[in-house]
Amino acid sequence: MTSVGRDSARAESLRTALVQQLMSAGTLHGERVAAAFLAVPRHVFVPHVSLEVAYADDVVPMKQNEAGVLTSSVSQPSIVALMLEQAAIRPGDRVLEIGSGGYNAALLRELTGPGGAVTTVDIDPEVAERARASLDEAGYGDVAVVRGDGAFGDPERAPYDRIVVTATAWDIASAWVRQLRPDGRIVVPLRLRGQTRSIAFDLVGEHLESRSTTLCGFVSMQGVAADYERLVPLREGRLTFDEDQEREPRPRDDVLALPAVQSLSGVEVDREEPLLDLYLWLACRLPGYCVFSGAEWSCVPAAATADSLVYLTTRAALNESRVELGCGGHGPSSGELLERMIGEVRAWDAADRPEPSFQVHAVGAELPAGSHIARRQSCLTVRWEAPAAAGC
Ligand SMILES: C[S@@+](CC[C@H](N)C(=O)[O-])C[C@H]1O[C@@H](n2cnc3c(N)ncnc32)[C@H](O)[C@@H]1O
Repeated sequence: MTSVGRDSARAESLRTALVQQLMSAGTLHGERVAAAFLAVPRHVFVPHVSLEVAYADDVVPMKQNEAGVLTSSVSQPSIVALMLEQAAIRPGDRVLEIGSGGYNAALLRELTGPGGAVTTVDIDPEVAERARASLDEAGYGDVAVVRGDGAFGDPERAPYDRIVVTATAWDIASAWVRQLRPDGRIVVPLRLRGQTRSIAFDLVGEHLESRSTTLCGFVSMQGVAADYERLVPLREGRLTFDEDQEREPRPRDDVLALPAVQSLSGVEVDREEPLLDLYLWLACRLPGYCVFSGAEWSCVPAAATADSLVYLTTRAALNESRVELGCGGHGPSSGELLERMIGEVRAWDAADRPEPSFQVHAVGAELPAGSHIARRQSCLTVRWEAPAAAGC
């Protein structure tokens, strides 16, 4: 399986530079994954862009819908690398990819080697057709390309050792779990309360347990597994709830005009520190959790009742590289809500800023202790663990 077309020497040198860049950034560390990146001619899968763009660490948009929303792309190499490391593909594995661009399927085919097999499924016939043509051109004619809704997996060629989902899912389809081999792994970008994490889950008995998570972004799943975020417009901003939060109360649209309260927590964080674990902690513990965007704050954790809204704020700390976390709010019950949010920020800090782990069970199964989030075909349990100690 060799490099083809358009100025192969130039393509090869750009490809080598990309691999070096990914390795020095720490996104690519396994030798086998690096060898796959060196072998697959990415430019063949994105023929409409220059070689420089094809080998930049960037997503290449492929298709938009009528509303201008991106529905298909060839994914960003660093995200692809992180997910392939999570998937830990072994020679001889049978792998199912949901969402085709051709490029990742070719990388998977390199990793599975002569004894393995790769199937890629896309819901969009045009994407599937293009993936088929590019895979053939690049020398990966034995990758099976299927046009269909990936929420049903691929019963014909199942079971699979690995399933790699490359569109953001809101639920874990029961077909994916059924089509995994007993020691199988699924890597899936899962949207949860406004954030998307690529989670590697191992099948343990009849449920899934997370082994690693990394933040990522993808286009959304279409078809039967598509989810619908609930947007609640306010006069100066908006709230976003997940589909399963249909019953959460919504505040009146002029809630931000009601008398304001605010308070600080005494908890400081680095200004640049990603706080998504804290956001998920709050999502698991605060009734009425939602994501608030307003004039002053964008995509911050919030909690709403029928008459009030509170949201997380930050204030510059004495040390200018740090900020102190606080809470602001409006409405008659905001004082009480604010105390609760501040209490949870302090509890997260007192628990040593733990990291989440996830389990997925079938609907109706007995669930372990933890916070439970019900989806259509699965139930997710979030548990909190002390962060892994830094290596010495
Ligand atoms: C980010 S692209 C995939 C990128 C690709 N794996 C690559 O090699 O770079 C996501 C793809 O998922 C597809 N998709 C969305 N929903 C799907 C579904 N339910 N079943 C199968 N494919 C789906 C879209 O049509 C789109 O082509």
